[in-house]
Formats: sequence, structure tokens, C-alpha cells
Amino acid sequence: MTKVYGDAEAEVHALRGVDIGFGAAEFTAIMGPSGSGKSTLLHCLAGLDTVSSGSVWLGEDQITGMNDAELTRLRRDRIGFIFQAFNLLPTLTARENIRLPLEVAGRRVDQDLFDRVVARVRLSDRLEHRPSELSGGQQQRVAVARALVSKPEVIFADEPTGNLDSGTGADLLKYLRLSVHEFGRTIIMVTHDPLAASYADRVVFVRDGRFVHELSQPTPDIVLETMKKLEG
Ligand SMILES: Nc1ncnc2c1ncn2[C@@H]1O[C@H](COP(=O)(O)OP(=O)(O)OP(=O)(O)O)[C@@H](O)[C@H]1O
Ligand SMILES: [Mg+2]
Repeated sequence: MTKVYGDAEAEVHALRGVDIGFGAAEFTAIMGPSGSGKSTLLHCLAGLDTVSSGSVWLGEDQITGMNDAELTRLRRDRIGFIFQAFNLLPTLTARENIRLPLEVAGRRVDQDLFDRVVARVRLSDRLEHRPSELSGGQQQRVAVARALVSKPEVIFADEPTGNLDSGTGADLLKYLRLSVHEFGRTIIMVTHDPLAASYADRVVFVRDGRFVHELSQPTPDIVLETMKKLEG
């Protein structure tokens, strides 16, 4: 796919021809320098932005070419998002925030799964609190629980640890990895941080709007080395 922003003189080629697949039940990290097209790629994959050419598929379904109603349904029923601002609703409790996507979709909440996820992210005794009554790390765990309980086919995360101290960030990454290896979710996460990337099963490197390299079973050292090589 390609993605060009603006027109004529102000054209920006954010994606110059990316051809890539992501495995189900796999945790993939996307890395690359600032401005290399990572967020653009994520937004195009998630149906939040349109592509200029090419196509995006989720399983058997082509996302590119869907109309607005189909895209809304896709994002509601099949995709989860964990962004830096966790998009929790301030007037709802943690429990209500976690259930919200399912309520909106008119789907049943799987109470077993709800209990299991909430215990796993250590929120069992915080369910009746509002976001303002929770720490940053707890708010983030609410966002993770919300993404897990609604069982989306893919979870997209853009710099989810960007604003966190290293302990809280490591916690979040542990939960993301758990959701892949224990709950069978599929995660695609953009990050700048070699340590964060090392939690993934696979790291994909983007530069100047192109896919340039990948690693599997990455360690922080190998990720850092690869970043230096690709940027140097
Ligand atoms: N809405 C937009 N309109 C015009 N140009 C844009 C828009 N969004 C992004 N761009 C440009 O597209 C290019 C890729 O941006 P993108 O946000 O995908 O980069 P990134 O890899 O996520 O960077 P960062 O690591 O800084 O978040 C940049 O040159 C950016 O300025
Ligand atoms: Mg970005």
C-alpha cells in the first residue's frame, strides 16, 4: 500500500509501498525513526485512515473499500485500540469502561473471561472506581482489560508505554504478551523502545515509508544493534 498526504506542492509520501503480513496470535512490534510512517501504517491497517493505493485485509475481508458503516462495525466488533491516551470515559467506573465496547455493540459480556482478565490485570478491587480515582498504571490496565474482554481479532497499540515510568511500562508489556500467549489475541504495537520491542515475537522495521527489515524472537541488544545499523 501507499499513503500520500496533501496534494501538489505539499505532498508527503508517508508510505511508499509497504507489503507485509501479520500472523494471528502473534505479537508484532513496528519500529523506525520519527516520521518514518509507523503511525500512518497502523491507522491504515486499522481502518482509521484510507490508503492512496493498495489494499488492507483482515482475514478474508478487505478493509480498503469498506464504506463508513462497515468501517464503524469493523472497528467496533473486530479491532481493539490501546493508544497513549487511554480513552477511558471519566464518568464511568472501571467495570463500566471495560464493558463499554460490548455494550455499545449489543454483545453479551462473557463473565468468565471478564473475571479472568480482571484478575490477571489486578483490577478486581478497583472495578467500582472512576478513572480519576485510579493511578496511571491502573487506568492503563483498564484499557488493556477492555481490549481483551471484547475479544477483538487484532489489537493495535501506538506507543502504549510512551508516557509511563519503566516499571509501569514493563507491566503493560507483560499484559500485552500475556494476552497473546494466554488469550490468543493478535497485537501490532508501534514503539521506539528496544526493550518494549523485545516483548514481541517479531519486530518489523520501517524507514522512509518502506518496510526494510525484520527480526524474530528479538532481544533488546539485537533490536538496538539493528536500529543503529538501519539508521546509520
Ligand atoms: N495528517 C497528515 N497530513 C500530512 N502529513 C502527515 C499527516 N500525518 C502524518 N504526516 C506525515 O507523514 C509522515 C509519517 O508520519 P507518521 O506519523 O506515520 O510517522 P511516525 O513514524 O509515526 O513518527 P513518530 O515516531 O514521530 O510518531 C511524516 O512526514 C508526517 O509529517
Ligand atoms: Mg507515530
